[in-house]
Amino acid sequence: MSKGLAISAHGPTLVPLFLNPTLDAEPMKYDDIRGILRYVPQFRGQTFVVLVDSALMEHENIQNVLLDLAVLTSLSIRVVVVYGARQQIIAEAAKNGVTLSCPDATGITDDATLEVSVDSISRLSMNFLQQLSGVGLRAAVSNAITAHPAGVIRGRDLVHSGTIDRVDTGMVQTLIEQGIIPVVAPLGFEKGGRILRVNSATAAVHVATALGAAKLLFVGAGVVEDDKGQRVRQLSVDEAKALAGKPTGAEETESSRMLLLRHAARACEGGVARVHFLDGRTDDALLGELFSIEGVGTMVYGDAYQKIRPAKKSDIDGILRMILRAVDDEELVGRNRQEIRANIEDYSVLEVDGIITGVVALHPWPEHHTAELACLYIRNTHEGMGYGRKLAQYVENRARESGYDHLFALSTQAYNYFEQKLGFKPALPDDLPPVRREKLQKSGRNSRVMVKPL
Ligand SMILES: CC(C)(COP(=O)(O)OP(=O)(O)OC[C@H]1O[C@@H](n2cnc3c(N)ncnc32)[C@H](O)[C@@H]1OP(=O)(O)O)[C@@H](O)C(=O)NCCC(=O)NCCS
Repeated sequence: MSKGLAISAHGPTLVPLFLNPTLDAEPMKYDDIRGILRYVPQFRGQTFVVLVDSALMEHENIQNVLLDLAVLTSLSIRVVVVYGARQQIIAEAAKNGVTLSCPDATGITDDATLEVSVDSISRLSMNFLQQLSGVGLRAAVSNAITAHPAGVIRGRDLVHSGTIDRVDTGMVQTLIEQGIIPVVAPLGFEKGGRILRVNSATAAVHVATALGAAKLLFVGAGVVEDDKGQRVRQLSVDEAKALAGKPTGAEETESSRMLLLRHAARACEGGVARVHFLDGRTDDALLGELFSIEGVGTMVYGDAYQKIRPAKKSDIDGILRMILRAVDDEELVGRNRQEIRANIEDYSVLEVDGIITGVVALHPWPEHHTAELACLYIRNTHEGMGYGRKLAQYVENRARESGYDHLFALSTQAYNYFEQKLGFKPALPDDLPPVRREKLQKSGRNSRVMVKPL
């Protein structure tokens, strides 16, 4: 089962009520469950639309994904499931010797393809309902998508491929309110009764935007990786669009990353706050992404996921707790509550997903036309993501707007960072305002001095 939520703290294993206690659970620390519970008030009553990729439907980890859905519903999250059927349609066609015109409604769906598609999707629906029953979830396949024939596009008649007109949100909401998970198949229903094949990702975006979902999760689609093969943790809508525009030379299928990135951007522009790309084949696929700061997938965000703002007095305890490690390691000078409180307007914090993740201070020395960039710190869970540079840029702009000629900084361990990443140059203690120089000498820290002309 999902590693998620069986707790143990050197004693008997506790399993939250919303999980089936008979399942083989790996123990978890109390801190982990606290981490999860922190998100519960934020997520309660919100709608999450989950698109299960067709490849995942056959994978052994689908059971864990479904269990994770059970956890979400038990936390009063309103879950809607859409599923893809591309792989099953391809397999069914091969078995019956049918040549498909297009397996995923991104092109022409001819008569034979529609027939195989409807057969495969119907079987898949039953399998899916069976599996959902297996984890104790009530679910119903709906005909919530109304569509019309896509018609002739670039000279090609797409025949039975459909364009989605609307989502019957009333039906979907009614099911949710009855404690039933609505399952949306990748089929559209025309008013006259005709069935059309619709693309599952397009369907998921329509369902998510129509319901005003807080999240759309592409489960089984895989995470987005950068050129070095590293997971990209998050992308703004503009970044997602830019990435989707890059030519890859690969065939564009229903589950191709480029197509899904465009869908993600569209969903965010339609009001969905976050779209997540998840592998789905690992144990922690869903819960690991939703209930941890680091996540395990890629998130496309349409809201103010990260912001830099002036620090408030109520942030002081959080800042002190956050920088404790760096102070212990002598990377930062220790500060106490009174010192920060007295100069609170010098401090700015970086908030990521509502959590303070970084801090920086700009201490002015107006009589010397300079200011000190100090107390730059990024939580180690978020290092290497450009946040240090963002905070430094932010105070640099503030210093420039205030009319200062240059910035200076003192560092014992990050001077390379200041020089190589932030554009500072080595300087001497004599370049500091005399009072600051004296303070440095008294501290015995022997920090290196760096300056940056503005
Ligand atoms: C130094 C610090 C602010 C960097 O923040 P960050 O958000 O991880 O940095 P960025 O994402 O902007 O930059 C990452 C790059 O800087 C490099 N880098 C990070 N810390 C470094 C250091 N101490 N020395 C040299 N390079 C460093 C990384 O290797 C990475 O290089 P790459 O882009 O070539 O891969 C952060 O590591 C930190 O809080 N450190 C502890 C406190 C501290 O030393 N503060 C500075 C004293 S005021």
